[in-house]
Amino acid sequence: MSKTIGVIGAGIMGNGIAQVSAAAGLNVIMVDINDAALERGLASIAASLDKLVKKDKISAAEREATLARISRTTDYGQLATADLVIEAATENLEIKKRILKQADGVMRADAILATNTSSISITELAASTTRPDRFVGLHFFNPVPLMQLVEVISGLATSQQTQESIAEFARAIGKAPIGVRNSPGFAVNRILCPMINEAIFTLQEGVATAEDIDTGMKLGCGHPIGPLALADLVGLDTLLSVMEVFYRDFGDTKYRPAPLLREMVAAGRYGRKSGEGFYKY
Ligand code: 3HC
Repeated sequence: MSKTIGVIGAGIMGNGIAQVSAAAGLNVIMVDINDAALERGLASIAASLDKLVKKDKISAAEREATLARISRTTDYGQLATADLVIEAATENLEIKKRILKQADGVMRADAILATNTSSISITELAASTTRPDRFVGLHFFNPVPLMQLVEVISGLATSQQTQESIAEFARAIGKAPIGVRNSPGFAVNRILCPMINEAIFTLQEGVATAEDIDTGMKLGCGHPIGPLALADLVGLDTLLSVMEVFYRDFGDTKYRPAPLLREMVAAGRYGRKSGEGFYKY
C-alpha cells in the first residue's frame, strides 16, 4: 500500500489530490516549477480545509496534521522516495510527456506512475516512460475534496496488478473508483463535455441566457449546478482542449468546440480561476 505520494502540479487538480491524500494520512510531496505556484497550491488547500473545519467535517488538529504531511519542492529528485506519483500538470501532450519522463527517471522501479489527464491517451503517455505496465490513468473530478469518483483508466500495457493497487489507493483516500478502458475522454468526460459544449452553442445562438440555460438544467434535470457554471468551475481552457481531442480523435463534427468557447479562451476568460468566464467571480 502507498505511503508516500508524489503529486506533480499544484494547480486546481494537483492541490486537491495532495489534500485528499494527506488527509488520509499519506505523506505527500507536491512538485511544481516554482515556489509561487507551490505556495498558491498550499493556500488553496488551507482554504478548503478551513471550510471543512467550519462545517465540523474535520477538527482544527486534523487540518494542521494534513498540512504538515504536505512537503513542497521544485526538485523532481525528491520523487525517488514515492510509492506512487500522480501527474496533474497542464493538459498538454508535450508538457506531460516531458514531465513524465523526468519523474520516471528518478522513481523507484516498482513505483506506480499515474496521470490525472482528462483527455490524453493513457497508452500514448505510458509509452513515453520505461514503465508502461506500472502506468495508469487516475482521473479525479473537480472539486477533488468533494467529488467521490475517480476513473481508473488502463492503457494497452497497464498490468492487472497496477489497476488493482491504484483502485485500492483510491478507496484508501475515500474515493469510489470505476474501471475504464483507454478511449478519448474515458467514460465521464465523453458524456459530460459534449453536454457543456452544447450549452455553449445554445448560449451563442441566443436561444436562452446563461442564467436560464443553467436554471433549466438544474431544475429540469436535477443537476447540482448548470452546465455554464460547471464550465467555469472546470476551466474553459481545459474544456476546449478536451473538445479538441474528441474532435480530432473521433473525427466526428458532433464534437467540434463551440466558437464562443474558443473566443472566451482567446480572451483569457477561463472561468473561476481567471475571475471571469460565463459569470464573474
Ligand atoms: N473544499 C471544501 N469545501 C468546498 C470546496 C472545496 N474545494 N468547494 C466547495 N466547498 C463547499 C462550500 O464551502 C459549500 O459549503 P456550505 O454548503 O457549507 O456553504 C459547499 O461545498 C457547497 O458549495 P457551494 O454552495 O459553493 O456550491 P454548490 O452547492 O453548488 O456545491 C459542488 C458545490 C459540490 C461543487 C456542486 O456544485 C457540484 O456537485 N457541482 C458539480 C461538480 C461537477 O460536476 N464536477 C465534475 C466536473 S468534471 C471534471 O472535473 C473532470 C475534468 O476532467 C474536466
